[in-house]
Amino acid sequence: MNAPITKKFTLNDLRAARLSGAKVAMLTCYDYTTARLMQEAGVPSLLVGDSAANVILGYDTTVPVKFHFMVELAAAVRRGAPNCFVVADMPFGSYQAFVAQGVKNVCWMMKQSGCDCVKIEAGQGQVRLVRRLADAGIAVMVHLGLRPQAVGLIGGYKFQGRTAAEAAKIVRLGVEFEKAGAAALLLEAVPPEVSNAMVDQTSIPMIGCGAGPACHGHVVVTHDAVGLTPHRPRFVPLVGDLSTPAKQLFAEYVRRISASAYPAAEHAYEMPVEEKTKFINRAE
Ligand code: KIV
Repeated sequence: MNAPITKKFTLNDLRAARLSGAKVAMLTCYDYTTARLMQEAGVPSLLVGDSAANVILGYDTTVPVKFHFMVELAAAVRRGAPNCFVVADMPFGSYQAFVAQGVKNVCWMMKQSGCDCVKIEAGQGQVRLVRRLADAGIAVMVHLGLRPQAVGLIGGYKFQGRTAAEAAKIVRLGVEFEKAGAAALLLEAVPPEVSNAMVDQTSIPMIGCGAGPACHGHVVVTHDAVGLTPHRPRFVPLVGDLSTPAKQLFAEYVRRISASAYPAAEHAYEMPVEEKTKFINRAE
């Protein structure tokens, strides 16, 4: 088992990893208990992803998840993992309307959740927002490549950067967002040539999600990696199977109830003896 995260992992540690070549593990996390376990297991950085829409709420896309729900989840993760670097996803509709809306909602997310960094899925139109947030002293991770919030426009969850022109556009955007003050990049579902070029042309840390080995850290949706989802994207490593033992434990609970093996004597509360006698012998 890895050592628990006992010292706060910060953006500076992420920057240092970029320089040293140490790879940073990031996992998605949506609740207090899992955050506590992840911190104990030595996971330095947690993403409160809007993939909560899929794996927590059961939606087909990330579009429906609400801003205040994401704030609650991020605050729970923060409480569970005070030493991890917590990145909170800004969900669809919470920052796209105009710059002031984005700044106001990001500030609310920071104040209410205590996250260390926010993530936005960004196109050209978000450059001004990132500049304003950086001016306000906020660490922003800019999500490029496959942007699940844009699934309607993209027409599915297809990998991005398929043509030389498309790949060059993604890298140009990364360069532009670094100039605008982004603290880090997250690159999803692109061929390794794109992440290689991005690493060469930018100097901020870059987390990959199906983006090849050049990235300075890697994130996947935890539920996919531990076998809790029926379909796993091809880039996600299956690190184990939590669903079989979970189902076995649920079935064991059902068995104990059905067999009247629970509750047993050791699960009962005890009344003081005199009170019990009085109660049993009471005249009504
Ligand atoms: O919401 C999420 O989990 C994400 C990762 C897939 C990168 O944005």
